[in-house]
Amino acid sequence: MKLFIDSANVADIKKAYKVGVLSGVTTNPSLVAKEGVKFEDRIEEILKLVPKVESVSAEVTPDAITAEEMIAQAEELIKINNYDKNITIKLPMTLDGLEACRYLADKGIKTNVTLIFTVNQALLAARAGATYVSPFLGRLDDISEDGVQLVVKIAELFRIHNLDAQIIAASVRHPDHVTRVAMAGAHIATVPFSIIEQISKHPLTDQGLEKFAADWKKAVKS
Ligand code: E4P
Repeated sequence: MKLFIDSANVADIKKAYKVGVLSGVTTNPSLVAKEGVKFEDRIEEILKLVPKVESVSAEVTPDAITAEEMIAQAEELIKINNYDKNITIKLPMTLDGLEACRYLADKGIKTNVTLIFTVNQALLAARAGATYVSPFLGRLDDISEDGVQLVVKIAELFRIHNLDAQIIAASVRHPDHVTRVAMAGAHIATVPFSIIEQISKHPLTDQGLEKFAADWKKAVKS
């Protein structure tokens, strides 16, 4: 399973990229709004920061409601960074979003259909030519449903019917989500930097390092 960072924060994206584990970036209107910067400028900045990743998702803004409005925004976004192949247009899971998805997919533009909460929505997005589909685990858990089970089912559906959209497990809230979606067959998990940090750590790793350091110090002294 590949890892994307779910962030529009330059410092966090830089840190994750430097570690060398990053295959992509996802953003959404809330994440960009939190940064207090102009949307297109931040996307351009991110594209430059992570030249070697497969995808940087830029979501059409909430005021694009019709397929035509979404396509018009997408056409502006793909001009950023000279039609960089990494740019992925993130579209909402609505009928208009699907229509825009089909149009962009037919033009060879990468798409990510977001806010997926059912297997049927994932099926529709895959059939509309989405490169990526993003089921939101944490938000399902928040309403007492099992987000990981949704990923299990979508992965099975895509296997049975040879659908080649990649599953981005999104709204990932803790390390156990990461393990479980990896085992469920998600192609990608998009996570905040805090989770990359968390999953790098174990108390026995820290204890082991302390012991190595203490033994080394003793040996050097003697
Ligand atoms: C994914 O693409 C979304 O940006 C994100 O994972 C949403 O997560 P949240 O439910 O924690 O806001």
